[in-house]
Amino acid sequence: MNNVIEMTHPLIKHKISRLRDKNTGTAEFRALVEEIAMLMGYEALKDLPTENVEIETPIEKCQSPVIAGKNLAIVPILRAGLGMVNGLSALVPTAKIGHIGLYRDEETHEPHEYYCKLPDHIDERLVVVTDPMLATGGSAIAAVDFIKQRGGRNIKFMAIIGAPVGIEKLMAAHPDITLYIGNIDRELNENAYICPGLGDAGDRIFGTK
Ligand code: PRP
Ligand code: URA
Repeated sequence: MNNVIEMTHPLIKHKISRLRDKNTGTAEFRALVEEIAMLMGYEALKDLPTENVEIETPIEKCQSPVIAGKNLAIVPILRAGLGMVNGLSALVPTAKIGHIGLYRDEETHEPHEYYCKLPDHIDERLVVVTDPMLATGGSAIAAVDFIKQRGGRNIKFMAIIGAPVGIEKLMAAHPDITLYIGNIDRELNENAYICPGLGDAGDRIFGTK
């Protein structure tokens, strides 16, 4: 699938290994998620459109490129996607931030919506959805459905770890999006957790459970 881009950068791979370690504590975990989001953002935003503007340097006037068009929208899937927002917004401080609240039912693993608020003119923005984990793909599919229902058209999805089955389901449901994934792991277990994965991303970011 050429719109699934798996990261190969050694810094990203190294930081993902630190995330996986069950002895990595909340403060380091949170910092790593932010750093990985920033490194992945560098890759995911490399085709942002630019336009030339006139700038006066201390030496002379010149035409120089700046990011063009409406501001980017960053849309974390609550809760865990929140952990990736600061890393991305450090790259694009003017980005607007939306939120989609979803949780997975522990028995059925189906996503349930509890909140959705997106920036206006969503149809004119590049929308980057963030969630560290793409397991069955149910939450990602539902989030992209919401964004499309509200007019979003240009959508990228950023996840740190994904399972093959969830990636296939997401890309079958939404073949027009681009997925940036830090690492594609082996499989899901009987509880729909990613193996080897990193456990429950939300709990590890927020220090719950
Ligand atoms: C986790 C994760 C994703 C979802 C992935 O969230 O952050 O949103 O599970 O699983 P899926 O691909 O099978 O849908 P969770 O529902 O645990 O909520 P939380 O972020 O509030 O902990
Ligand atoms: N959500 C998580 O946080 N981790 C998994 O492995 C699967 C879903």
